Amino acid sequence: MDTRVTEIADGIFRLSTFVPDIAPPAGFTFNQFLILGDEALMFHAGFRSFFPDNRDAISRIMPVERLRWIAFGHFEADECGSMNEWLAAAPHAVPAHGEIGCRVSLRDFADRSPRVLADGDVIDLGAGKRLRFVDTPHTPHGWDAGVVFEESTATLMCGDLFTQFGETPMSHDGDILGPAIAAEDALQYSCLSPNMGKTIRGLSALAPQRLALMHGPTFTGDATSALQALADDYDRRILSALSPSSG
Ligand SMILES: [Fe+2]
Ligand SMILES: [Fe+2]
Repeated sequence: MDTRVTEIADGIFRLSTFVPDIAPPAGFTFNQFLILGDEALMFHAGFRSFFPDNRDAISRIMPVERLRWIAFGHFEADECGSMNEWLAAAPHAVPAHGEIGCRVSLRDFADRSPRVLADGDVIDLGAGKRLRFVDTPHTPHGWDAGVVFEESTATLMCGDLFTQFGETPMSHDGDILGPAIAAEDALQYSCLSPNMGKTIRGLSALAPQRLALMHGPTFTGDATSALQALADDYDRRILSALSPSSG
């Protein structure tokens, strides 16, 4: 497996693994993000089967034992499957997740006690890097769902939002809405919870300068407008599902 490492913003590295056998013929991309600071943090632990490749990829940037935090968007194998492998490899690392996720999963599953993050809590990583946790329950899926926003670079690591198929360029400022709509149509991976539009619109208020997708490129265009358009599309889907004529 080939895991590519690219710096997407100052001190934020993307570890990207493309898997042609998942969702063929286009294939599927899985991204994790390493944020450097006095206390380095990785967002998404990745599948257990990816761990050896991801560990090698991180060691090209820094010693793995220096990892201080393991965070992720929600409790699912691609987001956190190898969390305990990372905790074993990095003796000072601590998992960090939202209140719901810690209560229902991590306090049992994690090999080290988690740091519990309330909505809006910031982990100060030092060296100017500050990572804010934002609760996004059931958006796009998972009771415990959340995203993270690195304040100094205005980078929103938005997890499964804007998921798209295929091997995408590292970053671009083109269309991410169309491919996201196509993937949602095909996979139906979101909850369609009634608050989805409002939750995604709330993320646009952060005024991010880039959106770091877990399954797609890093988007460097107008992130506020893209989030608002995605929110509108989910509102449309939810209203359509509730329409008497939809059944
Ligand atoms: Fe997910
Ligand atoms: Fe994911």
